[in-house]
Amino acid sequence: MSSAPVILALETSCDETACAIVQWQDDGIRILSAEVASQAALHEATGGVVPEVASRQHLRDLRPLVERALHGAGLSLENVDAFAATLGPGLAGALMIGAAAAKGLALASRRPFLGVNHLEGHLLSPFFDDPAGIGGAVGLIVSGGHTLLVDIAGFRSYRRLGGTLDDAAGEAFDKVAKLLGLPYPGGPVVDQLARMGNPKAYPFPRALLADESFDFSFSGLKTAVRYLLPKIAVSDAQVVADVCASFQAAVVDVLVAKTIRAARATGRRCLAVSGGVSMNSALRAAFSDRCTGENLQLRLAPPALCTDNAAMIGFVALHQLRHGLATAVTEDIDPNLRLAFAS
Ligand code: KG4
Ligand code: ZN
Repeated sequence: MSSAPVILALETSCDETACAIVQWQDDGIRILSAEVASQAALHEATGGVVPEVASRQHLRDLRPLVERALHGAGLSLENVDAFAATLGPGLAGALMIGAAAAKGLALASRRPFLGVNHLEGHLLSPFFDDPAGIGGAVGLIVSGGHTLLVDIAGFRSYRRLGGTLDDAAGEAFDKVAKLLGLPYPGGPVVDQLARMGNPKAYPFPRALLADESFDFSFSGLKTAVRYLLPKIAVSDAQVVADVCASFQAAVVDVLVAKTIRAARATGRRCLAVSGGVSMNSALRAAFSDRCTGENLQLRLAPPALCTDNAAMIGFVALHQLRHGLATAVTEDIDPNLRLAFAS
């Protein structure tokens, strides 16, 4: 194995087919190439992901994507030291496509296979520019499928602090967008429209804000929007912008308040925020403001690594490889895979 190992990583847990080639060089981890084939347009017609449709599309997109990634990095399969793929959590059929492909490539080229937890990919993505700096932080993952607060002591040393009791934050964005007749995925559209709206127009609930726990609940917020809609003029663009801004403010308030509180409770001086919803401009601005006020270090996942991507999978895989944690090719995918917590 070279001292600067190259990993080809695949991510197919939901509706993005992604392939990235990453290398651990002397001065940090480099993305040699990264390709994503998004299925967003395909799933827009149904307003959400249809698992069987997603799997079939992964199968179509994967091979040309791998070829493009290799070509982009100027490498061939022989130059790859290990092959990685997401093993879970995610849609079973979708996970199987990426995992089977990476295992096949590893077997055929007699290289290690590395099975990666998608959540760990998100969790560690804020450390991409500082791979040796993993640890000493409260991690917040906010994505379409997950909302999770984790104490990060170091690589593979995680403690669950709390999580959503019902909908994930991104799911709430997507469902509210659907109620408003906006396209899928809803998060980026709501973010855009909210810029023109008044965040104080509608006093939506901030569930569990006063609660001592680090848990979240977003389903009541979505229901509050549903009950409001028949009473307002949803054909009026300003009204829609006001609903978006008020809904978004409610989500942001709770996420920021609880994450800061978790930092106080654990004594951590750093926040690491990741996942698709961490793209949200109001969330990024609010975290930035509060962290300055509280004198906390803020590590936001780089925009290219917020929504599902394979570079974050390759990043974790490089750490696994460095720690001698290769995965047996008999290890199966697990749609409900959890983060391994130390306690
Ligand atoms: O991390 P991700 O790509 O997939 C999961 O692992 O779930 O996150 C996708 C989620 C979607 O719910 C999408 O609406 C949301 O991230 N999202 C956003 C923004 N961009 C993506 N939510 C709010 N504001 C955004 N700018
Ligand atoms: Zn994700």
